[in-house]
Amino acid sequence: MEKNNFLTPLVEVRNCTMEFPGVKALSNVSLSLLPGECHALVGENGAGKSTLSKCITGEYQMTSGEIFVGGNQIKQSSYSIRESQALGIAIVHQEFQLMQEMTGVENIFVGHYLTQGGLIHWKELAAKAQEIMEFLQCDINLSIPVKRLRTAEKQIVQLAKAILSDSKVLILDELTAVLQEKEIENIFRIIGIIKKRGIGVIYISHRLDEIMSCCDTYTVLCDGRYVNSGNVKDISMPQLIKMIIGRDLNQVFPPVNEKTGDMVLEVRNLTAPKAFRNINLEVRQGEVIGLAGLVGAGKTELVHAIFGNHKITSGEVLIRGKPVKIKSPREAIKLGIGLVPDERRLLGLNMLFDIKDNTILPSMSKFKKFFAFRYRSSGVVMAINLFRAIRKDSNGKK
Ligand SMILES: Nc1ncnc2c1ncn2[C@@H]1O[C@H](COP(=O)(O)OP(=O)(O)O)[C@@H](O)[C@H]1O
Ligand SMILES: [Mg+2]
Repeated sequence: MEKNNFLTPLVEVRNCTMEFPGVKALSNVSLSLLPGECHALVGENGAGKSTLSKCITGEYQMTSGEIFVGGNQIKQSSYSIRESQALGIAIVHQEFQLMQEMTGVENIFVGHYLTQGGLIHWKELAAKAQEIMEFLQCDINLSIPVKRLRTAEKQIVQLAKAILSDSKVLILDELTAVLQEKEIENIFRIIGIIKKRGIGVIYISHRLDEIMSCCDTYTVLCDGRYVNSGNVKDISMPQLIKMIIGRDLNQVFPPVNEKTGDMVLEVRNLTAPKAFRNINLEVRQGEVIGLAGLVGAGKTELVHAIFGNHKITSGEVLIRGKPVKIKSPREAIKLGIGLVPDERRLLGLNMLFDIKDNTILPSMSKFKKFFAFRYRSSGVVMAINLFRAIRKDSNGKK
């Protein structure tokens, strides 16, 4: 679909500037979205894509600039998520915002329960949920807790929830970052269905091939500044990359290291029932090893097993040639192993700590060894910060 200048945009942002204390996240950014259009919002990490989305959804109020929804100007001083939702603007994030213990139906309808005489009409809700699934042509069990669904299925529950309330604008912020190729194709198919309904989609993704194959139009941001916008069919991938990073990209990946050093990690016949069997692996200094496989192939379990966080029944792990029995992540860290997990919020970070505390958390023992006092004091500081964070969190929720 090409830009049609005679249609009223579903959303139009004019000269949006957003300042946080000490950071100008957006400076004079404009964007417009037409009915049935899939508009890519692209830029490097920190370019301001999520901030612009949050200005559109009313989570942030812009420092200056104007937003029009369906041709009507929004009053910034009172704009809120509630108002944007009422205007039909919905957002789906990469990080799950579902209640894990609740079923798909409960998650989809939370806040919109149909009641009769004070009782929730579950049968009707289940039928309505089924209708949405049929509309999206997806077959997902919505009567079990969402924690038992696969990642891709959870994303679809989030999508269903977003389009339930007659959305006109759907913002997808890095939705596909955690999905596999086949599942991404399914999301594209769903976007196709949504577009036919006249819903406009703002699509944020790092994967440029997705942009090229799924989006009609684009806006590029760089360091919070507007760079360019237009029709996707008029540009090539190298042109898009140049706009995003501001120069030609000659080398996508670092060169392969020909001179690897000593063996640092060996995995021999490692087996964990139901996860993986007889895995052998060698990693040398200066080497990058790729672990490939479909979802459920056991990749995550394997790295967690090496890290002492998944039970193994046979096989061995050697660090610098010496057999080791790693029974906990603590032991793995002591042996010099680091793990950046896929579920960052759940496993990688303590979201109540600030960046400094998160950074020193894995190396606390070092402070203990050499600076008993400092270790103690940093422990105390962390406890205070945790207390503060919890208090702030619960105040925020009131
Ligand atoms: N709540 C916030 N407080 C302060 N700075 C923020 C906040 N949210 C985002 N930023 C900053 O604004 C800039 C844009 O961030 P973001 O919109 O998240 O980028 P993107 O989504 O493109 O990766 C970054 O420099 C980021 O650190
Ligand atoms: Mg972002």
